[in-house]
Amino acid sequence: MNVAQSLIELPSDLVPEKMPRHVAVIMDGNGRWAKKRSLPRVVGHQKGVDALKNLLRCCDDWGIGVLTAYAFSTENWGRPRLEVDFLMTLFEGVLRRELAEMMTEGVKIRFVGDLTVLPASLQREIAYAMDTTANNKGIQFNVATNYGGRQEILHACRHIATQVQEGKLQVEDINEDIFENHLYTKGIINPDLLIRTSGEMRLSNFLLWQMAYGEMYVTSTLWPDFNRQEFHQALLDYQKRDRRFGKVKEE
Ligand code: IPE
Ligand code: IPE
Ligand code: MG
Repeated sequence: MNVAQSLIELPSDLVPEKMPRHVAVIMDGNGRWAKKRSLPRVVGHQKGVDALKNLLRCCDDWGIGVLTAYAFSTENWGRPRLEVDFLMTLFEGVLRRELAEMMTEGVKIRFVGDLTVLPASLQREIAYAMDTTANNKGIQFNVATNYGGRQEILHACRHIATQVQEGKLQVEDINEDIFENHLYTKGIINPDLLIRTSGEMRLSNFLLWQMAYGEMYVTSTLWPDFNRQEFHQALLDYQKRDRRFGKVKEE
């Protein structure tokens, strides 16, 4: 979507210049959403896909360049086998079904996390979707799958240590830029705003490095119920924040 169009779509109480460039979201509360309706937890996950599709479209409409969604954490393997299997199959099916629409909308999809231990068929679908959308010019959509912030930092440390061991890098030269280049999120700007649904006030191992100065917004709404109005509220709240980055304002 081009800038002129997105300005038309943007609610009039949002300031275009103050929009976040990168929004991240912890899509939490699918299980509770289902439980409230006496449905199996997995129905909540299914519903959650629609909420994510709507948010992606909304970000695109409102001129937000990057959306990162937490789909599966390194700790989520500890859930019942049936739920984990359901999620892996769900991801695969959604990717296959949505690829054509992502191409029409110019979405560039990328997966962040350790993908090597995902089911082989899901890995293939992921590689295909990333390759196919690689040259798209629209919104960048990152899906954190088997993602853990601590594991990501360890993974970066190992890479960097190997480079030092091989004499390709000097210890004194290691800096924030080099470190970021070894994270799964290499090349992706840090999130300006992180939204977590379902009321939990924690990061749950999401984007530990990247969120050093990101703003957080927590809503008690459960993820499948998260919609444009809710997102609008989050953005209004974000636009009121004074992002000081540790400094003081000169009067
Ligand atoms: C988030 O919803 C989705 C994933 C972690 C995959 P949950 O499944 O954590 O839902 P609650 O927190 O149990 O309600
Ligand atoms: C975080 O939610 C992970 C995802 C949304 C994918 P969890 O439900 O796994 O987090 P905790 O267990 O409440 O911290
Ligand atoms: Mg949860």
